[in-house]
Amino acid sequence: MHFELTEEQQMLQKMVREFGEKEVAPGAAARDENEEFARGLYDAMGDLGLTGLCFPEQYGGADGDYLSYIVAVEELSRFDDSVGITLATSVSLCQWPILAYGTEAQKQKYLIPLVAGKTLGAFGLTEPNAGTDAAAQQTVAVDNGDHYLLNGSKIFITNGGEAETYVIFAMTDRAKGVKGITAFLLEKGMPGFTFGKKEHKLGIRGSITMELIFQDVKVPQANRLGQEGEGFKIAMSTLDGGRIGVAAQALGIAQAAFDHAVKYAKERTQFGKPIAANQAVAFMLADMATKVEAARYLVYRAAFLKDQGRPFAKEAAMAKMYASDVAMAVTTDAVQIFGGYGYSREYPVERLLRNAKITQIYEGTNQVQRIVIASALLR
Ligand code: CAA
Repeated sequence: MHFELTEEQQMLQKMVREFGEKEVAPGAAARDENEEFARGLYDAMGDLGLTGLCFPEQYGGADGDYLSYIVAVEELSRFDDSVGITLATSVSLCQWPILAYGTEAQKQKYLIPLVAGKTLGAFGLTEPNAGTDAAAQQTVAVDNGDHYLLNGSKIFITNGGEAETYVIFAMTDRAKGVKGITAFLLEKGMPGFTFGKKEHKLGIRGSITMELIFQDVKVPQANRLGQEGEGFKIAMSTLDGGRIGVAAQALGIAQAAFDHAVKYAKERTQFGKPIAANQAVAFMLADMATKVEAARYLVYRAAFLKDQGRPFAKEAAMAKMYASDVAMAVTTDAVQIFGGYGYSREYPVERLLRNAKITQIYEGTNQVQRIVIASALLR
């Protein structure tokens, strides 16, 4: 059993950390304040090869493993997890299903520019009445010969509006229920495909979240992803990998909150000594560090299993559930250690606390993760 990243993975970790310190950290507070999506940072990640880490060379990728990509998301998320989740959404929820289920023509047209970071990807499953109940899709695609006619809408879509490529799910045969859902590839700018409300969120305000609207969008047959009726399987298997990405985001947030708390506890003096000299604070730090380490092993192990081609849905759900709960607990404790300053926007821990909350909610609430874990255990 090896508990170390490989030399290559450590080099990548160092490279992303330096990029995070130099390029991502400086504007993080302002992007949060102004709800500003930093396309330039995404472009820079493309130039660094982060969008292609775990994709085959034939599509312009580095032929690396999923764990390397997960380490990159974790490192980015230490500095600004809005940047981490922008990458993770494009890679896990758009690039991956095209690689896994796309035709060669779809890979040439959509995957290659995504892998190069020239385009950004998004994933549209959620609707007002199809959240946890993802099978209750109201968006409809009707087969019209050479194209499908798509009508409906999606909400809470990460990267929505900014992305050029969208993996979208729609009902093609309502009578078949879960087996009547089909996946499609849509392009920004297709006639009838527009953007609605932009969400104003509690956290991850540097990540863009939009409503997608489809009014008689003609989607060519060539843009159907996978077979008719295969959409639910595509969505669920895509989310399995995506959940490791959210877990890495949560891990990065938790690590950042812990690092800030340690530094502050050593610097902040009350009653003539650093507050870290009080056991009440030191024991909090001990608990926080233990939780972060435990989360890291679950997250890395889920990625390792995926890389081995072994079943990992349960482990991905465990990693996502645990790491996001840890992110919530550790950021809350970090704010507590900072006291009044922690509640102020002058310090980053209040942003980390707000951002941590989403990791318990998206790509399946933690209640959904428990369903996935329990059904795997009881199968
Ligand atoms: N991989 C492949 N196939 C799968 C699968 C998986 N992980 N999970 C289920 N399936 C297949 C099953 O095999 C089954 O097919 P068969 O009948 O042929 O065996 C079919 O799908 C239905 O399976 P279930 O009956 O188990 O599915 P369910 O309806 O009970 O699933 C649920 C329930 C787990 C709650 C599921 O609906 C779910 O995960 N919901 C949450 C959806 C979600 O995560 N949404 C997040 C939106 S995306 C987002 O947040 C992105 C963003 O912007 C960042």
